[in-house]
Formats: sequence, C-alpha cells, structure tokens
Amino acid sequence: MFPKSRILGTGHYLPPKVRTNDDIAKMGVETSDQWIRERTGIQQRRIAPEGIVTSDMATRAAASALEMAKLNAEAVDMIIVGTVTPDMPMPATAVFVQQKLGIKHYCPSFDLSAACAGFIYGLSIADKFVGSGAAKHVLVIGAELLSRVIDWEDRTTCVLFGDGAGAVLVGRNEPNSNRGILGTLVHSDGTFAESLMIPGGGSRTPLSKDVIDRKENKVKMKGQDIFKAAVRNLYTASQEIVDQCGLENREVDWVVPHQANMRIVDQVTQRADYPKDKVLSNIDKVGNTSSASIPILLDQSVRSGLIKENHVVLMCALGAGISWGSALVRM
Ligand code: ACO
Repeated sequence: MFPKSRILGTGHYLPPKVRTNDDIAKMGVETSDQWIRERTGIQQRRIAPEGIVTSDMATRAAASALEMAKLNAEAVDMIIVGTVTPDMPMPATAVFVQQKLGIKHYCPSFDLSAACAGFIYGLSIADKFVGSGAAKHVLVIGAELLSRVIDWEDRTTCVLFGDGAGAVLVGRNEPNSNRGILGTLVHSDGTFAESLMIPGGGSRTPLSKDVIDRKENKVKMKGQDIFKAAVRNLYTASQEIVDQCGLENREVDWVVPHQANMRIVDQVTQRADYPKDKVLSNIDKVGNTSSASIPILLDQSVRSGLIKENHVVLMCALGAGISWGSALVRM
C-alpha cells in the first residue's frame, strides 16, 4: 500500500542571540563549559529576546515550510502546535499562528501538549487527517520558548534548554508514489508524570506569590529517571516503527533523533547499530528545544542537502509525561 500523506515542506526559526556555556557560568551558575559538553554535548543555545513570543517563532517556521512547499497560507486547513511554552494558557498558540499567517478561513488550530514528543504526536495526527481525506494541508509545528520557564539558578536544568521553532507542511501524496509518511507511533507512561514538570500555575497549584517564590512555575526534573526512560523507550520505539513499516535498520538513510542529550542519542543509536554518520545532530549549537528539536534538525538537514528526495528518515522523541513516539518517512 502506498503512503497517503507526505511532507511537502520544512522550515525552522532560531532566534539569533547565542548563550554559550561560559555565558551561563558567568551568570553565577555553578557549572562549567567542560561539564556541560561532556555530560550533554551542548556548547550553546539560542535565547529569544524580550517581546518575541512562541507564536512569533512558530509563524516564521511555518511560513518557511509553506514557501518550500510553494503554497500560500490559504491552502492550510489545519494548524497543530506542539508546545509546553504557549503564548498564554488560553487561547491556543496555534490560533495566534493562524492570525499571524493571515488565514481568514476557519481552519481548526490547536495546541498539543506532549512536551518533547509534541512534534511526533502532531505528525501522527496530521498523517491520520490527511490520510483519511479529512484535511489536505496540515501545518505541524514544534515551538518552544523554554528560556522563560527555566530556573536560571538550577544548574541541573538551565544548561539543557534553548528556544526555537520548526515546522512541516503535511499534504496528500501523489498516487502510486512510495514517498511519504510510512508510519508513526506514539506512547505515554503516566507513572513518570512527576519526573519532569512545571508543577505550579495550573489548576492543582494556581499561580500565587508563594508559588513564584518557591519557583514552582519553573521546570523541575529528575534527570536520571528521564535519562534511563529515554534510552529504553527511544530504542524500542525506533525498532518498532522500522519493523511496523516492513523495513530493516540498514534501509534507514538518516536518524533524526530528539536532541535531548548527546549521551542519550549515542546510547540509543549504538544499541540499534546505526553508524554514527547516519545520526544527525545539532545539540551542540541549539541545546534541547523540546518539541521544536526534530523539525529544526530536519529542516537544517534538508536545506543543507544531506536529506534528499526518497531518503528514508527515522525520527524519535521522548519527553515529559513521559510521552514518546517515532516516525518513519520517505522524503
Ligand atoms: N554543572 C555542573 N555540575 C552539575 C550540573 C551542571 N550543569 N548539573 C548537575 N551537576 C552535578 C550534580 O549536582 C551532581 O553533583 P553531586 O554528585 O555532587 O551530587 C553531579 O553533577 C552528577 O549529577 P547527575 O544528575 O548524576 O548527572 P548526570 O550525568 O545524570 O547528568 C543530566 C545530568 C545532564 C541532567 C542527565 O541526567 C540528563 O541529560 N538527563 C536527561 C534529561 C533531559 O534530557 N531532559 C530534557 C527534557 S526530557 C528530554 O528531552 C528527554
């Protein structure tokens, strides 16, 4: 059976301001460039300036994906934004993207909360809508402004994250073409719900001065729990999707993994026996951009000419929830 949907265009946006590991150490955080590089592979990350919000970055990434697809915003009939750093709790960041793209028709636009797996979840939904014929062109965006929800005095988290956005436009496949989204899968395990969270500011602990003083409106993470869960589940999900699509690992041209920590990526890809030069990475330059991580790296690799038409690309991500997933795409 031929895939029913495919990626028509990719795009990304990274704010220009760079914050290096040394910059963080100079901010008074007890850390070092050497520690961060050795434990995570990160050398620098991007930080959005004041006045820029998540939907601004998401809109730029989306516009760039539309341009590659040679379509204008009028063609879009659904917008999905994976984010844990929305412009505001209500309404969805996706409707601000709709507004900023100038889309006047009533295309459904909604946010999706699956943390670092948000893009894979979005891709899975887009594939189902396009595949069923219910939608023609779906924008799937991962956009995060994590620098605003990080405790810049907590060295266990503040060194990891960066800001940015990535997007793809998913559309109908040409008849009898074996290019396209070959498969997606998504999972969650709520027993890890407390391992990575922003505990304050929701209905359980509404925002108050006390919540802010205790920094409960900032990211809290049990790093080692997440690390182990990521290695285990990303490996399984990567194998599962390749099997499900009837391929073998050697038929995968590129692995585009979520850029969480270089050691996580190395352990997953070594277990699956992927040669190092097939595994793409930009974590040294952008850090962990959560749901934006895969579409940013995908777009950079398409535009640099590494990923070409007909290449088989494996993507996999895991994040808070824990939620994870994988996708196999013939570009
Ligand atoms: N600089 C210097 N020292 C640090 C830093 C830092 N930035 N952070 C922690 N340390 C210290 C700890 O305090 C600890 O000190 P101690 O031994 O005196 O207590 C020591 O380093 C070792 O700490 P560990 O937590 O054991 O370090 P680990 O090797 O596990 O690395 C890390 C920590 C990088 C957070 C790792 O656990 C990790 O990457 N986990 C995955 C988390 C992740 O990727 N989260 C992102 C969101 S979810 C996702 O994207 C999958």
